[in-house]
Amino acid sequence: MTKILMVCLGNICRSPLAEGILRSKLPYEDYVIDSAGTSSYHIGSNPDSRSIAVANKYGINISRLMGRQFTINDFDAFDIIYAMDSSNYNNILHLARNEKDKEKVKMILNEVYPNQNYDVPDPYYGGTNGFENVYKMLDEACDIIAEKLQ
Ligand code: 4NP
Repeated sequence: MTKILMVCLGNICRSPLAEGILRSKLPYEDYVIDSAGTSSYHIGSNPDSRSIAVANKYGINISRLMGRQFTINDFDAFDIIYAMDSSNYNNILHLARNEKDKEKVKMILNEVYPNQNYDVPDPYYGGTNGFENVYKMLDEACDIIAEKLQ
């Protein structure tokens, strides 16, 4: 059982999309896929309606996911922790207790563009187009992740 955690700031825009997209590409019996936010802003909230809409457009239902905050227990509960941007990445690394924790944390777009440390842009304050753009970036990254894992 491989356990993968997607992390962004609010856990309402990017990481729930990443969770839904990756889940759609892997057999559910063999993987635990979850998401969390580094902030406490949206604990208990469903994803942003614009994320729900773009996921729906591609046949993925993320409407019932619920926001939660990343905790140090997640280092024990997951094998790979994907940060959506460098700010999330640094915040997660600050919580790491040892090298083993640190090794689990990766920038998700490095799966597409190795070692470039590109951010998935935060779409929260933008328009619908930002969500479409984020969807496409995450879909490409999750294709590669799923291919590598299987
Ligand atoms: P996310 O987007 O990190 O992709 O979920 C955001 C959602 C909410 C906020 C910022 C980013 N916020 O400041 O409330």
